[in-house]
Amino acid sequence: MFKIQTLNNISPLGLERLPRGSYEVASEIGSPDAVLVRSADMHKLEIPASVKAIGRAGAGTNNIPVAAMSQRGVPVFNAPGANANAVKELVLAGLLMAARNIPQALDFVKKLDGDDHALHKQVEDGKKKFVGFELPGRTLGVIGLGAIGVKLANTAVELGMEVFGYDPAMTVQNAWKLDSRVKQALSVDDLVAKSQFISVHVPLLEATRGLINAERLKLMKKQGVILNFARAEIVDDRAVVEALAAGTLHAYVCDFPSNALKGNPRVLATPHLGASTGEAEDNCAVMVAEQIREFLEVGNVRNS
Ligand code: MLT
Repeated sequence: MFKIQTLNNISPLGLERLPRGSYEVASEIGSPDAVLVRSADMHKLEIPASVKAIGRAGAGTNNIPVAAMSQRGVPVFNAPGANANAVKELVLAGLLMAARNIPQALDFVKKLDGDDHALHKQVEDGKKKFVGFELPGRTLGVIGLGAIGVKLANTAVELGMEVFGYDPAMTVQNAWKLDSRVKQALSVDDLVAKSQFISVHVPLLEATRGLINAERLKLMKKQGVILNFARAEIVDDRAVVEALAAGTLHAYVCDFPSNALKGNPRVLATPHLGASTGEAEDNCAVMVAEQIREFLEVGNVRNS
């Protein structure tokens, strides 16, 4: 019998891949053979010596002490691409919300007051106040051409945007399934200078911490929008707050609220919802459960 500890709610569809006769799955369990985790921070946990594998039901592995685990010979499996569509859809929602001032408009409507005649007058004011802009012809820079970056770039091209891509590890020609209309940016600086919207889709590494910083924000086109659905630390939020105050940046759309960003009307933040759809949770859980099973039962290491 293999023992699996779950550190977060892992979709039941994934857990079904671990048959009851051979697997015991629980959030509290002695001497687990493997751990399934979503975003719980494992850096602060003591990982029992019995653990032979870790399954991360998502893409990023920055919540897992991967180097320490590899020294112990413990593989860390993740689910690259399994939640890419969910993240892409939320980025698009953010992009449209920023372009059409939707959160501000919703807030405005909540505060409408008076009889229907008075409301009509206020609606006319709102109409003038929240004039937005359309996406065709606007520029989008996508940093990181993995599963999410590619899906976003392809959809943005379909929506008529001019899209630039940059990835330190590959050219746009080599990126898997990327639309050939996506143009190559020569560097992060080049992409930032060319794009009104910039969306980051890179993992959190020392090289990507603070990738969007005060210097880069100065290179941006006026009325720019930064979208960050990757990891909070990739964008320097204090520099963002300054650029918003200076009026150089139109909006910061992100999945990571912080105290520095709190209450800022030009910050649109969701509580790490990028991968929070039923479909993505199922896909990620199934992918890692199958990888864990294959490893525990036959010693195979695969990551897809
Ligand atoms: C990811 O890295 O794929 C996401 O952060 C997933 C999640 O929300 O667990």
